Amino acid sequence: MCGIVAYTGSRNAQQILVEGLRKLEYRGYDSAGVCIQGDKGLNLVRTKGKLVELENALQIGPLTGKVGIGHTRWATHGAPSVVNAHPHTSVDGKIAVVHNGIIENYSIIKSALEKEGVVFKSETDTEVIVHLVHKFYKGDLAKAVSEALTHLEGAFGIVVVSAQEPGVLVGARRGSPLVLGVGDGEFFLASDVAPIVEHTQKVVYLDDNDMVVLNGTYKITNQANAEVRREVQNIEFSAEQVARGNFEHFMLKEIFEQPNTVLNSLRGRILPEGTAKLNGLNLVNQELRSIQRVIIAACGTSFYAAKVGEYLIEELSGIPVEVEYASEFRYRNPIITDKTLVFVISQSGETADTLAALREAKQKGATVLGICNVVGSSIARETDGGVYLHAGPEIGVASTKAFTSQVTVLTLIALLLGRMRRTSADEGMKICKALAKIPDQIKEILKLNDQIKVIAKEFKDKENFLFLGRGYNYPVALEGALKLKEISNIHAEGYPAAEMKHGPIALIDANMPTVVIAPTDALFDKVLSNMQEVKARGGRIIAITDAEANLGKLADYTIVIPKTLHMLTPLLSVVPLQLLAYHIAVMRGCDVDTPRNLAKSVTVE
Ligand code: G6P
Repeated sequence: MCGIVAYTGSRNAQQILVEGLRKLEYRGYDSAGVCIQGDKGLNLVRTKGKLVELENALQIGPLTGKVGIGHTRWATHGAPSVVNAHPHTSVDGKIAVVHNGIIENYSIIKSALEKEGVVFKSETDTEVIVHLVHKFYKGDLAKAVSEALTHLEGAFGIVVVSAQEPGVLVGARRGSPLVLGVGDGEFFLASDVAPIVEHTQKVVYLDDNDMVVLNGTYKITNQANAEVRREVQNIEFSAEQVARGNFEHFMLKEIFEQPNTVLNSLRGRILPEGTAKLNGLNLVNQELRSIQRVIIAACGTSFYAAKVGEYLIEELSGIPVEVEYASEFRYRNPIITDKTLVFVISQSGETADTLAALREAKQKGATVLGICNVVGSSIARETDGGVYLHAGPEIGVASTKAFTSQVTVLTLIALLLGRMRRTSADEGMKICKALAKIPDQIKEILKLNDQIKVIAKEFKDKENFLFLGRGYNYPVALEGALKLKEISNIHAEGYPAAEMKHGPIALIDANMPTVVIAPTDALFDKVLSNMQEVKARGGRIIAITDAEANLGKLADYTIVIPKTLHMLTPLLSVVPLQLLAYHIAVMRGCDVDTPRNLAKSVTVE
């Protein structure tokens, strides 16, 4: 949420910054700006709207210089506008800052600065940072930033540049991510590795309260101003993985990557004895055996994956599981004992609410494990252990491949815990065998893309949708509804199928399509009855099923998915729902990868 990128080296900074912002656009896209250190001072260009507006402005008036900072914004304080766009500059225009996060005590600082005569130009919380740095500037930018940081409360990743210090950039982080890219005679700072990877594979993930000074070399200091060494790591993925390739949208690319991404999440983690090997959990078997309760905290799509995990862990291991919205968990007084294991799930590993839930659980003494996709992310680093998804970078704002990888990893966790308790070797082996087939089965479902396009065309103009599922597929119904809401601006609700009669049934008519997930499990007949109830009220049905025969008159359209174990059906049933949402959104002319009002990596509360 908000993307920052900065460059210092010997190349044209403008191009590197704009290309970098393009890679970060999923973090916010209501305004953008760059500030470049020129021969005669700082030069600033800011525009409202998507990045293309900034690109157009820079084409008309290009900036030259080899050092600069850039930002793509998701508004928190102050409406999207040019004055509120970053970078923000000091009153004399000699210092500029980009910021990701929220300065919680900005109004106190602002009043104090106003009393000292500072005139604010924007409504943002960020502007206080640049005025503070300016106030403390006595010829040493690093010192001024360091002093300013002591006044700030809240979450931030920032980069500061000054007209008076050629070639110098100062970055700092507390709560919001900031990655340093170490190139050959050049350096990058960015909110994540996506803008860096095409220039260098070498990165340093800054820790909270780190400040980094770039001046031909780099120096990292901690809050006590002592120099610290941080490991230089190699980025795991390539520049191609953050490019769209031949796909029209990142979301479609990521949907089609799922046979591979699920395979990557499984790789090396299934053992012949019908259990899972998850080295990163950092818990010995004795500790895993003594767990009496599991809590999973997450947001958005990760929350729905967690709901599937709840069913899996309870069924296979018998351990009671509660799934909580991270945003609720952090402000409750949850009951945590030394036998409670807490999982936090986050694709980005940076979601502020999930990070806060993690800290709350740790504070109360729980062992907290993470299920993250982004290596080196804040959540991955603050947890006691965990499992990476290995799904590769997810750029589309609407999460797709992360969901299937999260469910895959949760299945492995359930299997591991289950085999230590009530799941037999035989059953464990059956699950492993079925899991191994999932990637190819997803490939089969992707072949239904054209059929799903036809269905999308038929229903694209509807304004309301209902998604129904039971058991393992109830969370999938929630996820299907979320996908449609996020990218097509259609109102959609997910419901447990049997709950329909307690409310949503009142809404059913020919204008409100119902998507029903109807696998041939123990509840199949009951779901068929729910479909009868929809039909009896003139409703139209799109069914997702693994039944051999199609569902005849009960469904207007039937999408047939391959058969797997019932507990694994979410890994398959979600794929047609992702494609349906995608095609409907495209046909409605919606911006699929950067949907209205949303952003990825939500680093604010
Ligand atoms: C945002 C994104 C969602 C995502 C959620 C949680 O709302 O738009 O796609 O599911 O954040 O993100 P996380 O990175 O924690 O999984």
